[in-house]
Amino acid sequence: MISKELKNNLSGSSWVRKMFEEGEKLRAIYGADKVYDFSLGNPEFNPPVEVKTKLKEIVNSDISGIHKYMNNAGFSDVRLKIAENLNKDLISPLGEKHIIMTCGAAGGLNIVLKTILNPEEEVIVFAPFFGEYKFYASNYGGKCIVVPTLKESFQIDLDLFEKSINEKTKAVIINSPNNPTGVIYSEDILKKMADIIDKKEKEYGSYIFLLSDEPYSKIVYDGIKLPVIHNIFKNSIIINSYSKSLSLPGERVGYLAINSKIEDIDLLFNGLVFANRTLGYVNAPALFQKVIADCLDATVDVEAYKERRDILYNELTSLGFSCIKPEGAFYLFPKSLIEDDVEFVLKAKEFNILLSPGSGFGCPGYFRLSYCVSMETIKNSLEGFKKLAEYYKITN
Ligand SMILES: Cc1ncc(COP(=O)(O)O)c(C=O)c1O
Repeated sequence: MISKELKNNLSGSSWVRKMFEEGEKLRAIYGADKVYDFSLGNPEFNPPVEVKTKLKEIVNSDISGIHKYMNNAGFSDVRLKIAENLNKDLISPLGEKHIIMTCGAAGGLNIVLKTILNPEEEVIVFAPFFGEYKFYASNYGGKCIVVPTLKESFQIDLDLFEKSINEKTKAVIINSPNNPTGVIYSEDILKKMADIIDKKEKEYGSYIFLLSDEPYSKIVYDGIKLPVIHNIFKNSIIINSYSKSLSLPGERVGYLAINSKIEDIDLLFNGLVFANRTLGYVNAPALFQKVIADCLDATVDVEAYKERRDILYNELTSLGFSCIKPEGAFYLFPKSLIEDDVEFVLKAKEFNILLSPGSGFGCPGYFRLSYCVSMETIKNSLEGFKKLAEYYKITN
């Protein structure tokens, strides 16, 4: 009944979703307060007060056209505001024609990949990575080439990266702060990546896009400043959304920001707008475009995420888990206590703790824990983590 490819995809599909469904079952048996669900990156925080205030104001106003179709790229005034906001950090400024409003980062990635990929062309991703990339690339006949990151640090292995580029390489996706590791790529590493891409483009006479998937760009800890992608790369497209920074994942609003240094920008822009329309998104949600346009400097409470990171990181490492300290996003990616991460995650479920195996991110032997949950869930889960560690006899 359904396509063979989709049937295959269904059977190997998202561990994150699977664990979420397991959680539903456990909650029905034990009650929601006895189940510690760290499986999904679905923030429990409410959006910042600015968002709610603006939403009420817009709903009660009579701005004309607020519920209508618009230019498929999104409202002009909203795109201009986003461009101006980004320009504070940019060497080559952006205008309205460099911004396209999207249905979240997922919608943005799909639009870009539909626009640029020919069948069999390759998209480089760095493991561990957001598992959906594979499906997004294959939606348009493309193929993800998975390049492992350096052991322990999860930083880009520049040698491996260079070796993985060939004449079929069309795009490289980076995601920093990273889901699932929380790692941020330094300016130095990014500049070296840019040099490698330049060199390979010359060698193959090809065009390689750098796609920077940045939904966690505002969730950064310890005063770290994110390098500015468009100042480092030439053929870069930023894919961003308000799902995490404003806790609005269900509202499906985000944007693409095209580097103004890209040649033939009109062709690219028209292609992206066409893809937005013909993939059926048509345009990003009208109401929320207007809302976010006046909340561009607002964020969720990053300190509250940091507090959660610190508690879990300190508790888990003191129990003997090995883990790098995340610099951003809201995930921990510790080593599984046994080689088989799927078996480990199933064991954790017996203590009512729901985790996602690293295999779902192309990185077996680890697990992901999403800490965008209530402090109560975190504190109440600690006893379960202790028992889990004791089960594997690593505490004394
Ligand atoms: C790395 C990464 N990219 C993209 C997305 C999709 O985000 P959005 O809700 O904005 O579509 C997510 C969501 O969890 C993500 O973690």
